Amino acid sequence: MPATIITGLQWGDEGKGKMVDHLSKNVSAVARFSGGANAGHTVEADGRRIALHQLPSGLIRPEVLGIIGASCVLDPVALAEEMQVMEDEGLSVAERLMISGKVHLVHPAGKYIESSDEMKLGNASVGTTGRGIGPTYVRKFMRKGIRLEDAAVPEIFLKKSAAVTDECIEQLGLAEEPAESLRKEVEVFNRESLKLVDRAKDVSMVIAQILASDNSILAEGAQGTLLDPDHGTYPFVTCGSCVAGAACVSLGIGPVMIDEVVGIMKAYTTRVGNGPFPTELTGSLGDRIREQGNEYGATTGRPRRCGWFDAVLVNYSTRINGCTWTALTLLDVLSGIPELKVCKKYELDPEIDLTLFETGERLGKHIPVYETLPGWEEDITGEQEWDVLPENARKYVLFIEKLIGVPIRAISTGPAREDLIWRN
Ligand code: GDP
Ligand code: IMO
Ligand code: MG
Repeated sequence: MPATIITGLQWGDEGKGKMVDHLSKNVSAVARFSGGANAGHTVEADGRRIALHQLPSGLIRPEVLGIIGASCVLDPVALAEEMQVMEDEGLSVAERLMISGKVHLVHPAGKYIESSDEMKLGNASVGTTGRGIGPTYVRKFMRKGIRLEDAAVPEIFLKKSAAVTDECIEQLGLAEEPAESLRKEVEVFNRESLKLVDRAKDVSMVIAQILASDNSILAEGAQGTLLDPDHGTYPFVTCGSCVAGAACVSLGIGPVMIDEVVGIMKAYTTRVGNGPFPTELTGSLGDRIREQGNEYGATTGRPRRCGWFDAVLVNYSTRINGCTWTALTLLDVLSGIPELKVCKKYELDPEIDLTLFETGERLGKHIPVYETLPGWEEDITGEQEWDVLPENARKYVLFIEKLIGVPIRAISTGPAREDLIWRN
């Protein structure tokens, strides 16, 4: 797998971190291509459980190089903290991390603006992670952003940073005290940004060299297709493109360099934040899945909304990403539920044009049509053999595979690295 893209097929948290860790065994580098500190990718391996936010998950393996692509947004203060966590775990990343100089930096003002925007929206808020992601992408596309490479000339960088601070204080009409807090945060931001300059690299060139020498890379996506600003459930989305196509843009490689696109999906569905969720379970079954699956956000700790597997949406996502194969995760969480439902189509609102697939606000009006399948009692945690799975668990996987139209090659049966079944 010389160049493989890993992408989420639902609303994020599909277990991408676990799969990236598993698949990075024989790769030279893992490159994050989307998002920033809004992501939380959990890896359980070698007796550790670590949630990575901005660092590529491959860095858990000491021999792997970590790359952060141009389309990510980087919070330098949070990155310093995350690197310290890795050091404390005995995983030195200082010598193994490079960042595109083109990456946009998350200025502390972005978090103030985001919090004010979300408050103004009230009940209609997006439910963001509060990591300043949206405002940073807004500045980028207004052509007013601050890139890591700007920090190479400190005088210009500091001027730009001060201008962003002043603009925020004026825009929000900040009183003296919050304005002072912001200024203090900006001082730390400036210091940590300047420290990162030596890590700024031409990522495209580095990846081209790795591939030219017959070594492999994994491109690690964050978020999921349904959170993508173009293809997701707009406006309840993130602001950075997170579908497979975005990997080429972010890493500066041509589409012909990509060998595989691997879609990661949960055996059910979850969503954090607001927005439509046709198969959501709001009662005790949803609570049961949340507890069995430990469905609490790896970044914000928020309880995740839980629901049945939605094959209509995942079928759509596999097409948008061009998946060559998929991995189904958290199958063990469904053990003990007597009957499982899978959404196989929607009963459409008669006003909606059948040929148009909508992911906007009207998606919430579609009524899911379910197939009910029998569940299984056995605990399948840690199972590694397909043939040993209970028959109903195998039938459940095969039913989903048929609906999504792309092979399910891997089935995850627990959070640990080795809890995985491979199918031919
Ligand atoms: P990501 O954002 O896609 O990397 O996913 P998260 O790390 O946010 O959420 C996935 C959660 O499920 C994490 O707590 C993982 O440790 C856990 N996990 C991953 N795969 C499995 C699995 O097959 N079974 C169980 N029980 N947990 C899993
Ligand atoms: P990983 O990589 C789940 C969601 C937020 C919110 C919306 C916009 O761990 O799968 P933002 O802060 O990005 O402006 O928030 O997107 N969101 C995620 N949900 N997993 C993620 O990342 C997410 N990143 C953003 O909850 O609904
Ligand atoms: Mg996550």
